[in-house]
Amino acid sequence: MLEEYPKEITLQDGFICILRPMTRDDQDALYRFFISLPEEDRRYLRNDATNRILIEKWCRELNYNKVLPILAEHENRILANATLHRETFGWGMHIGEIRTTVAADFQQRGLGSLLLEELSKLALKFNLDKLCAKVVASRTYVTRAFEKNGFVREATLKNFVKILYDKNYEDIAVLVKDLNQKSG
Ligand SMILES: CC(C)(COP(=O)(O)OP(=O)(O)OC[C@H]1O[C@@H](n2cnc3c(N)ncnc32)[C@H](O)[C@@H]1OP(=O)(O)O)[C@@H](O)C(=O)NCCC(=O)NCCS
Repeated sequence: MLEEYPKEITLQDGFICILRPMTRDDQDALYRFFISLPEEDRRYLRNDATNRILIEKWCRELNYNKVLPILAEHENRILANATLHRETFGWGMHIGEIRTTVAADFQQRGLGSLLLEELSKLALKFNLDKLCAKVVASRTYVTRAFEKNGFVREATLKNFVKILYDKNYEDIAVLVKDLNQKSG
C-alpha cells in the first residue's frame, strides 16, 4: 500500500520535494516544524503541537492503521504534515478524517491541495467512502482550501471548541468529501 513512497512531487512553481510516511525518527524534525509555524496557525490547531511530550507520543505510538501521517520534506526539513485518521472498528470504519498543516513559506503554492489529493488516493486504497475535516469556521481561507479540493461544508457546530491559547469558543466547520461520487 505504501510501497510508492518516498516519491517526488513538484509544486506549481517547479519546487520539488519528497512525500513519505512519518517514521519514529521524525520526532525532532516534526517538533521543529510545529514550533516554526506562525502563532496564528498554531493557535487554531486542535492540539498544542509545541508540546514535545505530545510529539514524542505521536512518534512512539505510530500505527498507520489508525493514523497515517504523510510528510512533505526537502533536505531534512518538514514542509507539511497531513494525517489520515481511521476507525479500526464500528460504524465509522468507512470514514477517514484529515488534518493538514503547511509551513508558512510553503502555503499558497499548491502543497496543501497536493496533500489533500494524496490522502484522497490513499483513502480509496484503504476502501474508505468518505473523508471529513473539522476546521475552525472563522478561518475562511482554510475552509476554502478544503472546498477547492472537493470537500463540501455539511455542518457548522456552533461554539463547539475552546481554543487552547485563550479558551475562547469557536465554531467548527465540518467538511466532507464523498470519495465514490462520480463526476459528470
Ligand atoms: C489550509 C492549508 C493546509 C492550505 O494549504 P496551502 O498549501 O496553502 O493550499 P494551496 O496552496 O493548495 O491552496 C488551495 C486553496 O486554498 C485557498 N487558500 C490557501 N491559502 C490561502 C490564503 N492565505 N488566503 C486565501 N486563500 C487561501 C485558496 O482558495 C487556494 O486555491 P487557489 O490557489 O486556487 O486560489 C494551509 O494554509 C495551512 O496549513 N494552514 C494552517 C494550518 C491549518 O489551519 N490547517 C487546517 C487544519 S485541518
